[in-house]
Amino acid sequence: MKKTLLFEPFTIKGMTFKNRVAMAPMCQYSADNEGSLKGWHRSHYTSRAVGQAGMIIMEATAVEPRGRISNRDLGLWNDDAIKPFSELIQQAKVHGCKIGIQIAHAGRKATIRDEAIVAPSVISFSDQYQVPLELSAPEIRAVVLAFGNAVRRAVEAGVDFIEIHGAHGYLINQFLSPLTNKRTDVYGKDRSLFLKEVLEEVVNNIPDQMPVFLRVSAEDYMEGGNHPEDICLLLEPVKHLIDLVHVSSGGVVENALIKMYPGYQVSFAEIVRKQLKLPVMAVGMLESPELAEETLRNKHADFIALGRELLRNPYWPLHAAKILGEDISWPEQYQRARV
Ligand SMILES: Cc1cc2nc3c(=O)[nH]c(=O)nc-3n(C[C@H](O)[C@H](O)[C@H](O)COP(=O)(O)O)c2cc1C
Repeated sequence: MKKTLLFEPFTIKGMTFKNRVAMAPMCQYSADNEGSLKGWHRSHYTSRAVGQAGMIIMEATAVEPRGRISNRDLGLWNDDAIKPFSELIQQAKVHGCKIGIQIAHAGRKATIRDEAIVAPSVISFSDQYQVPLELSAPEIRAVVLAFGNAVRRAVEAGVDFIEIHGAHGYLINQFLSPLTNKRTDVYGKDRSLFLKEVLEEVVNNIPDQMPVFLRVSAEDYMEGGNHPEDICLLLEPVKHLIDLVHVSSGGVVENALIKMYPGYQVSFAEIVRKQLKLPVMAVGMLESPELAEETLRNKHADFIALGRELLRNPYWPLHAAKILGEDISWPEQYQRARV
């Protein structure tokens, strides 16, 4: 039994995460135009595993080239991508962390210049972005299958879990939000339908016991957009297909006013956790060890994810354990620094 919840293991579908600290997915813009993983990714992710994060969520990885946020995103649209992922995953697992990947499609927020981009409706994100083409029903089916194929490749590469990117105004989020989904067909009448089809395809392509996380934007910060209660209603019909909700916010529309402060998204996580009765991950300026611990103790979340702080300090878990008076294992090679 640990003194803190932050370092208490947590089990989902028989998979035990050694602590509650997750590395949030963060694009590194370091792939080539084929979406291939590079040496940078190996150093970057492995050092957070050495730093004792309990889980690493690899950055947004596109299911097809026109679904990339940028030309330098990772991609899993062809089988050649599997081997480099597999080498990195094995390297990270040596340090006892669980490693998963965020599978994504940017939709209207793709900034690639060499291809037309797609969305539920013909509304651009801003003047700086391309005007997207509206996806037809057969094209939607093809994107759903692309999600399944990318997930199959991730599984083949050895990931421990999958996170589906349903947040920050990317394609799934564009279907979920009334601000971006103006369709009059079934995908407009039921804004969860696209997500449901994606998740069903994901589940068809993973082993039974593999956890599936869904990242959502629980607040659009705009009149007429989604708020946490709406997101809970939208997730109700897909709840049986997910094992954890990773609660973020924003990104759907350009002019949303977001006030950021430590823990600014925790209240959304709390609502989703209570409403859906699923484990949740909170994120957003949670780098104070005391705040991270308090978020878990108050039952506002089951995991905390750190983004920018883990860029500043890959060894944050070692540092947080010391501050909270917790005894956690250190890499053998670093024992002399333990004091
Ligand atoms: C460089 C960078 C890249 C990011 N890329 C992604 C991404 O690929 N997918 C995603 O869902 N969020 C992405 N985010 C958002 C983070 O996952 C996280 O939600 C955000 O930084 C807030 O957490 P923090 O205050 O701990 O940094 C990115 C953030 C940063 C700083």
